[in-house]
Amino acid sequence: MKATISFNKEETIGKVDKRIYGSFIEHLGRAVYNGIYEPDHKEADDLGFRKDVLDLVKKLNVPIVRYPGGNFVSGYNWEDGTGPRDKRPRKLELAWESIETNQVGIDEFQEWAKRADSDVMMAVNLGTRGPEEARQLVEYCNLDTDTVYANKRKENGFEKPFGIKLWCLGNEMDGPWQICGKTANEYARVATETAKMMKWVDPSIELVACGSSNLEMPTFGTWEKTVLEATYPYIDYLSLHSYYGNRDGDTAEFFAKAVDMDSFITQVENICDEVKAEKGTDKQINLSFDEWNVWYHSNDQDKEIEPWQIAPPKLEDVYNLEDAVMVGSMMIVLLNHCDRVKVACLAQLVNVIAPIMTEVGGDAWAQTIYYPFMYTSTYGRGTALKVSCDAGTYDTKEHTAIPNVDGAAVLSEDEKTLTLFLVNRSLSEEFDVDLKACGFEGYKVVKQVAMEGEDLQAVNDAANMNNVVPVEKCVEDGVKLSAHSWNMIQLEK
Ligand code: AHR
Repeated sequence: MKATISFNKEETIGKVDKRIYGSFIEHLGRAVYNGIYEPDHKEADDLGFRKDVLDLVKKLNVPIVRYPGGNFVSGYNWEDGTGPRDKRPRKLELAWESIETNQVGIDEFQEWAKRADSDVMMAVNLGTRGPEEARQLVEYCNLDTDTVYANKRKENGFEKPFGIKLWCLGNEMDGPWQICGKTANEYARVATETAKMMKWVDPSIELVACGSSNLEMPTFGTWEKTVLEATYPYIDYLSLHSYYGNRDGDTAEFFAKAVDMDSFITQVENICDEVKAEKGTDKQINLSFDEWNVWYHSNDQDKEIEPWQIAPPKLEDVYNLEDAVMVGSMMIVLLNHCDRVKVACLAQLVNVIAPIMTEVGGDAWAQTIYYPFMYTSTYGRGTALKVSCDAGTYDTKEHTAIPNVDGAAVLSEDEKTLTLFLVNRSLSEEFDVDLKACGFEGYKVVKQVAMEGEDLQAVNDAANMNNVVPVEKCVEDGVKLSAHSWNMIQLEK
């Protein structure tokens, strides 16, 4: 069977904002403690951060990391994680029923981010706290004034401001599970006043307001409208979150969910534009898809975990090959919306629904989903072109006419390399790729890397870390997309 992939150098979507390759570290499970931070580990650096984990993070090319939550942030006092470590309080952490030791806070995390070649995307607590604590945190992080919070940072050993440019106004505030969740009107009001104060303290920052926690929320749509109507002058982005899982063992249905993600983005874009029109303003609100991933494998085992432990092994999904194909497919969706999605965070980064896993006192390794993320983040930089993929469709119980093949194309800034990301969702068909690359005379295919294999359930784990890895394919006789595979294909001049 043939897959015709067409694109034209003149038909662009937009420049890819590198921040769509962001990720997320929450004080949850073993993300921080016994994840990025394990002071007794043989790989620990002077601050207790694992160098082997940092190496894996650096190879992923993650330009921004959201911190410190997530649900965690809605009960968090940021001051607890600053200053002398022996004076920091141990606290009951209500979002994940754990004990938080506060040995890592913003003082340490901004240093970790530097070592990971990344920036921090900071979230403020709009659950148990509000505008006053948020503006104090902006002062602590970003100001050089001779005032109380900037001075506290200096006393804590950080003469230079951290310079955090991107901030989230709370997290999933529409969720009944959220500590001090809010109605749309309550959130709209507090987010507006918090945003005003944060920008008065540092006008150079950008702000993300909470959209719905997912497309299935009963208030989806009205939540976005209410929040946008109030916050519009003060915010820059509206957030989206989405997790998908193959709970019924129906891979065709699972792969089709990337189309739901696409539709979610389109719907939120439309709501933003509706409010823009109502307001008669030129200002465009862009999107921050700041939590997305596959998440379902660990749901049942997490119910067995006893509460009030330090760093319990929560949300430790072990990802298989089909999850890698799905993650690659979701990245294609993000690229094809790069004109509006300017920030996106794979949730999360280490141990907690993560591309990187660690053993306490042991190794760190890459899960299956690490690879499509790494290749897309590394080579998906430049200008995204509109792509049309013609390879037939399939139907499922919940979806009709799902394209067998979906793709994104990115032209590098120097125009030397055109990189295609293609997913073949068909469970049975292999496709011969027929490229119709208008405006790319003199370019030829030089490389194909694929995540493919017979066994969609195959995983990487501590015993077999390289069980599922990308394969480099021979392109001499043309390009083929194996059944249920994710692929990166590069053309060079
Ligand atoms: O990423 C795990 C959790 O999922 C986050 O804490 C929350 O924001 C979402 O519900």
